[in-house]
Amino acid sequence: MKINLSNIKKAINLLNKDECVAIPTETVYGLAGNAYSDNACKKIFKLKNRPKNNPLIVHYYDTNNLKEDCYLNEDFYKLYKKFCPGPITFVLNLNKNSKISKISTNQKKSLAIRFPKHSVTRFLLKKLKFPLAAPSANISSKVSSVSSKDVKEDFGKKIKYVLEGGKSSLGIESTIIDLRNKPKILRLGSIEVSRIKKILKKKIILDNKSSKISSPGQFKLHYSPGIPIRLNVKKIKKHEAYLLIKKIKDIKPNYFFLSKKGNLKEVAKNLYTTMRNIKKSKYKSIAVTKIQNKGLGKTINDRLIRASKF
Ligand code: TXA
Ligand code: MG
Repeated sequence: MKINLSNIKKAINLLNKDECVAIPTETVYGLAGNAYSDNACKKIFKLKNRPKNNPLIVHYYDTNNLKEDCYLNEDFYKLYKKFCPGPITFVLNLNKNSKISKISTNQKKSLAIRFPKHSVTRFLLKKLKFPLAAPSANISSKVSSVSSKDVKEDFGKKIKYVLEGGKSSLGIESTIIDLRNKPKILRLGSIEVSRIKKILKKKIILDNKSSKISSPGQFKLHYSPGIPIRLNVKKIKKHEAYLLIKKIKDIKPNYFFLSKKGNLKEVAKNLYTTMRNIKKSKYKSIAVTKIQNKGLGKTINDRLIRASKF
């Protein structure tokens, strides 16, 4: 995407003044602030109405100066080399001397870090003198934003600036892996676990369903479009919107398909936008067709299950 320098300058000026700016990433839009500043991080929590115990992911351009903030290990370097910049978040031990705001980490001893791939945000990160704390740019527990329009709909004038970056190419959040001990997946995401396993060549623990919450992306109600959702539906009820993964012959006005041929990458990319559109069309509930629980289908089902705990 072409970089608009005056947009970048505007974002930098606001971020330097501890203001929040929404930024595009390849997964979803983030609500960003200076990760070294308590003030900026407080503003992020307030804007999102986010519980204080839910720490923020910190976004970096690359690994330069990263050792000052957290302890990097072999597993990290292997995955970094393969997938970064890209849709994966690492939980590592926080360095005691780190400048990261304690508001951002909720006083925890760990830090979640990510290297987003979106060219606009990479350009911005390179110019800044600090990394960016940025949770997804949506009201807490609701569907993430995948365009500047979504962000503006959620926050209106409360947010000072949205840096334009087009539609997020992946449309579903990053995979979160805790690398402090044995590798442990805390949230399924854009990168499939089998691809991570191939690189690390060791057992990977799946902790994304744990009842003990170490990552509130694990909270049950999350990613909610604000209306009830029923899953694995073969027969819909009257007045329900029907969410399909591929186009079928007999499309009715209340049918929404996420991809022409059922390509799961397309399904993931269109999922949140379509859920938002259904809500806006005043449907009172959504029925979703069965989605095969394989590969990216697992991530999509994970989001739908959480969204259905309405
Ligand atoms: O794709 C993404 O990851 C997007 C883009 C903007 O980067 N960000 C995102 O942030 O999804 P958020 O805050 O909506 O989800 C991040 C998750 C939360 O569930 C949070 O609890 C978890 O990461 N998290 C943050 N710090 C953590 C830590 N130190 N240990 C465990 N989980 C952590
Ligand atoms: Mg989120």
